[in-house]
Parts: sequence; C-alpha cells; structure tokens
Amino acid sequence: MKFFIDTANVDEIREASNLGLLDGVTTNPSLLAKEAGRGKSAREMLEEICEIVDGPISAEVTATDYEGMVSQGRDLASIHNNIVVKVPITAAGLQATRSLKKEEIRVNVTLIFSATQALLAAKAGATFVSPFVGRIDDVSNNGMEIVEQIIQIFDNYAIESEVLVASVRHPMHVVEAALMGADIATIPFKVITQLIKHPLTDVGLERFLKDWEKANL
Ligand code: G3P
Repeated sequence: MKFFIDTANVDEIREASNLGLLDGVTTNPSLLAKEAGRGKSAREMLEEICEIVDGPISAEVTATDYEGMVSQGRDLASIHNNIVVKVPITAAGLQATRSLKKEEIRVNVTLIFSATQALLAAKAGATFVSPFVGRIDDVSNNGMEIVEQIIQIFDNYAIESEVLVASVRHPMHVVEAALMGADIATIPFKVITQLIKHPLTDVGLERFLKDWEKANL
C-alpha cells in the first residue's frame, strides 16, 4: 500500500519524507488555509511541496461549476508534472474529470462517501477516488465498509482507478485499509508518528541499553 501524507505543512512533509516512506501528498483547501500564515500563496506552497516529494501531489479546485473546475484544473496542473487535480464528486466534477482526463491531466475525485459515487468517479476517468472514512465514522456509519465495497466493485470490473483512503484518523484505519488491499492511504502526520510507536519497543530498548551499560563490555 502506498503512503501519502494528508497535509500542506512543509515541515511535516519534510519530516515524513526523511523517514523514506512518502509516495505522495494530498492537500485540500482547508489544509492549505491552515498554512496561510507562512506568507506564501497556495501556488508557492504547492511548488514547495513538489520540490520535497517526487510523487502525486493532490491540489484541489475551489470552483464549483464545470468551466471553472476545468480552468482551475489546467492552472494547477501547470505547476508541476506531479500535480493531480482534486475535484469534488458532483455532476460538474464528473464532467470536469472527463475533460481533464482527455487532456491527460490526472484527477483525484474527492469527498466520496458511497460506493456509487466511487463507481461514477471511476467511469468518468478518475486516476484516484478518495473515500473519506473518518467523516463517515463521524456520522455513525462504517467508513471502512464503504472502502471494502469500492475495492470489491473495482476488482469485479478490473477498474484501474486507485482507491485512496482519506480522512484517516487513527492507525486502525491504516491497518484495515492495508488488509482490504486499498491502493493508498493518505495519512495525517500525527497518525504516521503513531504508526511508528509501540510501548513494548520503548520498554525493550530501555532494557537493552541498561543491560549493555551494566555489563560494561
Ligand atoms: O484529504 C482530506 C481528508 O483526508 C479530510 O480529513 O480529517 O478533515 O476528515 P478530515
């Protein structure tokens, strides 16, 4: 399973990238807005991210009409070859996905909350479909069940769109995504650090070092 980081914070991206496990980055308008205090435009922030990670970098349109989405999509794609244009799953979004794909611009269809939405996004030509598992859990449904359905449907028809599990909130989302065979999980920095930690690792390391010190070899 590929690991993307779900943030626009370049310090977090650099740190995760130094661990050697980043295959890509996902941003969205909220994540870029969180970094507004750094005095850089959204374009400059995306340029910087593209310099750090060599993999798909999702950048989202904010237009909600077809023409606006296509025009913003072209503009975002012009930033760097690695930019993937993120569009929401709406009627205009599906239309924009098809048009951008025809221009060989990769699209990540976002804000997916059902298997039917994922199927439509794939049929429109999405390179990635992004089910938001945490937000589904937030409304007392099971986000990972939707992911399971999407994977099954894509397998049934050999659909090439990749399943990108988003809105990941904790390590078990990552474990379940990997067990189900999701192509990608986009993970917030905090959860990436949680994946590394285990209390028994800390205890074990402490014991090894104490024993080593005592033996004075
Ligand atoms: O990429 C955006 C998505 O991951 C949102 O996550 O935690 O705001 O639901 P969250």
